Amino acid sequence: MGGRLALTQQYHLALMEDAAQAHGATLVGRPAGTFGTVGCFAFYPTKNMQSIEGGLITTADPALASTLRMLRNQGMERCYHHQIVGTNARTNDVNAATARSQFRRHPTLTGRRRQASALAASPPRAVRRAVRRRRPGRDRARP
Ligand SMILES: Cc1ncc(COP(=O)(O)O)c(C=O)c1O
Repeated sequence: MGGRLALTQQYHLALMEDAAQAHGATLVGRPAGTFGTVGCFAFYPTKNMQSIEGGLITTADPALASTLRMLRNQGMERCYHHQIVGTNARTNDVNAATARSQFRRHPTLTGRRRQASALAASPPRAVRRAVRRRRPGRDRARP
């Protein structure tokens, strides 16, 4: 990441950080979404945090944040005052409620994913033992 940041500074480029699946991840103690000019997170159901559909953009640039807010809201700065051409990318209540719930559960869900990942990297015998421990009744029913 350091090399990319140096390049963007040298050539005065904006860095868009694709943090689509990096919710809660860190690099050298720094959270994903804080390295670039903007960080983009996805909340599609296949992601490690979801809101049915949608996403989130992070930035430390207040002017850019203001433009992004207008872009998602038909270019309006306030109701019916269009400053730029925008689109409707507003979050609805159902998506927002789902995201809030997911946000609370994120540490637990991430812990489960880490356990599953460690298990997937284990030798096959260890995987079978772990599955048996989780489903003792099912194993007994088999011949
Ligand atoms: C690394 C990465 N970037 C971007 C995307 C696009 O996400 P979305 O279409 O939800 O914005 C995905 C989705 O799979 C992804 O995995």
